[in-house]
Amino acid sequence: MTNSIELTGISKSYGSLTALGKVDLTVKRNEILTLLGPSGCGKTTLMRIIAGFEQPTTGKVVIDGKDSTSLAPEQRPVNMVFQKYALFPHLDVFDNVAFGLRLKKTPKDVIKREVIKALELVQLETYKNRWISELSGGQAQRVALARALVNRPAVLLLDEPLAALDLKIRHHMLNEIKRIHEETSTTFVYVTHDQDEAMILSDRVVLLNKGGIEQIGGPEEMYWSPRTLFAAKFFGDTNIVGGTYGASTGEGQIQLPFGRFAHAPKVALQAGPVNVSIRPETLSLAPAHGHLAEGEFLGKVKDTSFIGNRVIYRVAVAGGTLDLKCQQLPTPGSHTLPPGADVSLKCKPESFVVLPA
Ligand SMILES: Nc1ncnc2c1ncn2[C@@H]1O[C@H](COP(=O)(O)OP(=O)(O)OP(=O)(O)O)[C@@H](O)[C@H]1O
Ligand SMILES: [Mg+2]
Repeated sequence: MTNSIELTGISKSYGSLTALGKVDLTVKRNEILTLLGPSGCGKTTLMRIIAGFEQPTTGKVVIDGKDSTSLAPEQRPVNMVFQKYALFPHLDVFDNVAFGLRLKKTPKDVIKREVIKALELVQLETYKNRWISELSGGQAQRVALARALVNRPAVLLLDEPLAALDLKIRHHMLNEIKRIHEETSTTFVYVTHDQDEAMILSDRVVLLNKGGIEQIGGPEEMYWSPRTLFAAKFFGDTNIVGGTYGASTGEGQIQLPFGRFAHAPKVALQAGPVNVSIRPETLSLAPAHGHLAEGEFLGKVKDTSFIGNRVIYRVAVAGGTLDLKCQQLPTPGSHTLPPGADVSLKCKPESFVVLPA
């Protein structure tokens, strides 16, 4: 199986501003790859370079094995769905979807067949004669998807297509996008700055930071094995705690403000100051009892949020010098501990992500 997209040495400068520095990226055929990163990190720029709306300052764009660096957008087997749906308000749903095929002078009966097929795919076939103004946000975005899919692109680029929708519809649409991906065998490149969206959708996630690739990996790898502080903080909620590894504390030992823990690093680690990422759900908490067992330490609840399927505690530890966020799974009948409660905490040192400070 060949690759769908191969980007080598892609950079983009606008005057003195570097939007992208040397990016090398391969997108596999039929995968869903998400580009994730904070505002301004270069996500849209990279998509526009793949689509051909933007010329890279340096580098090469290969699509489906063909050097496409200097091809016009319409010569590339690529379609893009934008953040704002950009539908034609003076055309109905059918004509919006048919637009691209008409440009290509496709025969009428083929247009009809293909448009209906695309509308069936997004489950809007009964809406074909509606005006765009008569659609909800989610329906309009599905029309935008159908309009891109009707051209049967080898690659579909989706640039924050759900940003304008509220949370419930967004989750529904994410599942729709997954289903459509399965039914079309098309390569999807999906831009988001929402890590939940990225995790739900992706085969692989590309985390961008300031125009460069910070890390690439599957959702679980990105979550449990971030390679930088930026990746640890960007992907999910975490506690970042300063500490010391090895040397004075001993080989395989980490000294944190609330205790010393045995930790076997997964990658080579120099003795010295470190930052440790501790996921809230790896900390367990119980009302303080008489003595502390091995690996336990004391804290005082500062505040609590009951969110139904989880309880989030902020707990002061190390004599009040540090707050830790802990996430617990409530069970029916269990009681959330109130602010002020003395608690004992336990962590899972094997799940620490230890990064040189
Ligand atoms: N046409 C342009 N002229 C000058 N600078 C630009 C242009 N397009 C983008 N930039 C700059 O390039 C950088 C990357 O922009 P880009 O739109 O790719 O970010 P993004 O990751 O998509 O952000 P967002 O999440 O806000 O959409 C930004 O600093 C932006 O201001
Ligand atoms: Mg953008």
